[in-house]
Amino acid sequence: MPKVTIDDISIEVPAGTTILQAARMIGENVPPAMCYYSKLEGSGGKCRTCLVKVTKGSEKDPRPMPKLVASCRTTVMDGMEVRNTTSPEVTDARKGVTEFLLINHPLDCPVCDQAGECKLQDLSYEHGLAKSRYEFKRREFERKDIGDKIQLHMNRCILCYRCTQVAEQLTPERVHGVLNRGEVSEISTFIEQAVDNEFSGNMIDVCPVGALTDKTFRFKSRVWFTKPVNAHRNCPTCSGKVTLWYQGEEVLRVTGRKNRWNEVEDFICNECRFDKKETKDWQIEGPVSVDSHSVISQNHPKIELPVIQKLIESDKDSTQK
Ligand code: SF4
Ligand code: FES
Repeated sequence: MPKVTIDDISIEVPAGTTILQAARMIGENVPPAMCYYSKLEGSGGKCRTCLVKVTKGSEKDPRPMPKLVASCRTTVMDGMEVRNTTSPEVTDARKGVTEFLLINHPLDCPVCDQAGECKLQDLSYEHGLAKSRYEFKRREFERKDIGDKIQLHMNRCILCYRCTQVAEQLTPERVHGVLNRGEVSEISTFIEQAVDNEFSGNMIDVCPVGALTDKTFRFKSRVWFTKPVNAHRNCPTCSGKVTLWYQGEEVLRVTGRKNRWNEVEDFICNECRFDKKETKDWQIEGPVSVDSHSVISQNHPKIELPVIQKLIESDKDSTQK
């Protein structure tokens, strides 16, 4: 088992583990990842937010790596030493990457459905500049419907390719991808075809920004006014394990359950996501514990139990009936 040391913390990991995965195993000083998604094959290597400094290549060849490397794509070698939050060079590079990602990204967080869950918002908060140095016009695209439940707002897209990997790997027919190159690259459904298959909604969950949004939830609320509750149902298509987002007693949105790295545990089908929005459709399990740094927690990492108790009781009642 190769041993790697990240910011002075050592861990032994299985051969083939990347630096980012090793950092996640340690659980501290984890580089941000805007394009890597452990459940999507071939993801990573696009956004450069996960750059780290390798100060010692390995026990056999201790020379440092000449440039910063993408931790999501660099495999751990035995004896490797890595600097992430403890390297001023990395912090500086991350600031540059953040500024670059924001060159064309509109600052429309006050009206964006992703606000409060947006990884670019978090990244800008930690590494962004207070004002833009960019003087040119930002690129602009028309909004597009991807099927009847998903809207693409290309102005916000950071071209991480996660959604195209969902299309490629989860759906039988891929009808959307990245067209063109450079500044004019865009995610597109070829000739405006709808992505019409039962797992297409997962594109919304993997999008790190507000470029792909759920039309059934659009503009209904702000995420910090909703309460996440885990629930499941017997679904013939997917695992049926979801998070329901309640406002009062109304389910405003259904998403896949996400882990602490903001990745879904199981991809869910469109029927669970878009068509099952009543408490009676679900067996309620209990509140999702929310990271206290998240605006969703509003300083209450646990949802008040009486609300959940009421939901569980009404769930039992409807099952008995
Ligand atoms: S739409 Fe979202 S998931 Fe797709 S490439 Fe753009 S930012 Fe990534
Ligand atoms: S997460 Fe590593 S390059 Fe994007």
